[in-house]
Amino acid sequence: REVREAVEDPLENPEQFEAVGVEPPSGVLLHGPPGTGKTMLAKAVANESDATFIKMAGSELVRKFIGEGSRLVRDLFELAAEREPAVIFIDEIDAVAAKRTDSKTSGDAEVQRTMMQLLSEMDGFDERGEIRIMAATNRFDMLDEAILRPGRFDRLIEVPEPDVEGRARILEIHTQDMNVADGTDVSEVAADLEGYSGADIASLATEAGMFAIRDGRTEVTQADFEAAREKLQDADQTDEQVINYQY
Ligand SMILES: Nc1ncnc2c1ncn2[C@@H]1O[C@H](COP(=O)(O)OP(=O)(O)OP(=O)(O)O)[C@@H](O)[C@H]1O
Ligand SMILES: [Mg+2]
Repeated sequence: REVREAVEDPLENPEQFEAVGVEPPSGVLLHGPPGTGKTMLAKAVANESDATFIKMAGSELVRKFIGEGSRLVRDLFELAAEREPAVIFIDEIDAVAAKRTDSKTSGDAEVQRTMMQLLSEMDGFDERGEIRIMAATNRFDMLDEAILRPGRFDRLIEVPEPDVEGRARILEIHTQDMNVADGTDVSEVAADLEGYSGADIASLATEAGMFAIRDGRTEVTQADFEAAREKLQDADQTDEQVINYQY
């Protein structure tokens, strides 16, 4: 609902916002842990709305040659202005909008320039017509505060890990096309998945299916979900060790 209100509605009914006398948010930032559906939400906007949808990954804006990144940002906004109403979506924006560090390597300076270009394009937004800008990140803590100032990404939408009901609903969605044995209680499975993201739940469903296949069955049972959960938990623990090591 928040995404609808902040992105779709202003594009579909600009008159209503004018009549009420409020400015829709300039930029909407989706933030939350990995795998919680941020990119998926943006894709949903692309599918639902008639506006032109221009998608770019933050990492694509990080270029080798000086000035290339900021040129790309300019082109992005120009294209949006030509095709308005339009939504610009920058996924994983932390790649270009991380806090300024002290290091003065030229790579960093170039990334800084690209970010400055992005900020200045957003500042000059009003004259440009019906353009909304959306971004997503799972590293909210890393972002430079300059991008969060009013008139820039001034609407923050948190996409948290799902609660128990959310997990059950997500599991339902991802098992919809699976041949699940009668009597399997999806919400019971979901209750045990504390801390699982949507992406984790999607892979749990696939993994459960794999257990049935290995066993030569065509029906997936509650025990398969259980086995899948144990397998993913073990894998997760190994992951965690690696991450701890890296940090
Ligand atoms: N709320 C959800 N409902 C249904 N499926 C979900 C949900 N969240 C995540 N998923 C599943 O997980 C996959 C990955 O989600 P997505 O790529 O949108 O995560 P993300 O938040 O963008 O993660 P990241 O921060 O790592 O980019 C989706 O394609 C979908 O299969
Ligand atoms: Mg994503």
